[in-house]
Amino acid sequence: MANLPRVTILSGAGLSAPSGIPTFRDNNGLWENFRVEELATPEAWRADQDRVTRFYDWRRANTRACQPNEAHKALERLQAAWGPDRVTHVTQNVDGMMARLSAPALEMHGSNERLRCGRDARHPCVPAPLGSSAACACAACGAALRPDVVWFGETPRHLEAIDAAVACADLFVSVGTSGTVYPAAGLVHRARECGVRTLEVNPKPTPGGNFDAVLSGSADVVLPRLVRRWLETGTLA
Ligand code: APR
Repeated sequence: MANLPRVTILSGAGLSAPSGIPTFRDNNGLWENFRVEELATPEAWRADQDRVTRFYDWRRANTRACQPNEAHKALERLQAAWGPDRVTHVTQNVDGMMARLSAPALEMHGSNERLRCGRDARHPCVPAPLGSSAACACAACGAALRPDVVWFGETPRHLEAIDAAVACADLFVSVGTSGTVYPAAGLVHRARECGVRTLEVNPKPTPGGNFDAVLSGSADVVLPRLVRRWLETGTLA
């Protein structure tokens, strides 16, 4: 394993789009049909816990009806073959798809497959139930439980581990993200600062051209081919 290269992958909603899970900013994306301010902020939770709970319960039910696609499975194969020291998958997605494949990702925006105390983030999380989570209460304090996701205005997770994984990689791959939300959107710049080669996989390459190379295509078509070549050659060529 020692002479294998290191690759850090940042994924966004486009990784799960082939599974039938809507993205946020494409045509008919989630934020075209719902208002972020009313559903994905701490203020929204304080204003109407029931509406936020129903939205995330609805998203979770939709996600659970979908299956991991060939892009998720390609990342699982890569992680299984090269190991966690060589492959770091950072995901902005909260759909828990990689966890379903037992292929751990750094969930920088948390996961809608878990609930956490709406009053104290230090209290233990629990797996989200099938169906409504409205009646779920924190075992430690009795407060209502909220989705264990990072809302706008809250601090993303695993930032130190993510920075280290980007800085020491031989290749940084951005898959299926519009590069509009920081700090995730800044990771390509961090990679370039550290002299790391950068690659984007997206049917609509992000404007600004911050990547050394772009593979314009769907994640479930491009990633399996890319991973097959990497595994056959033991390189990131
Ligand atoms: N394969 C690869 N990429 C795809 C595919 C596909 N099949 N389909 C769509 N895409 C790309 C789109 O071209 C777009 O660039 O996925 C990207 C989706 O962008 P967004 O909808 O903005 O999703 P994302 O970048 O993950 O959003 C980042 O914003 O609302 C917050 O917290 C939310 O994590 C999310 C963050």
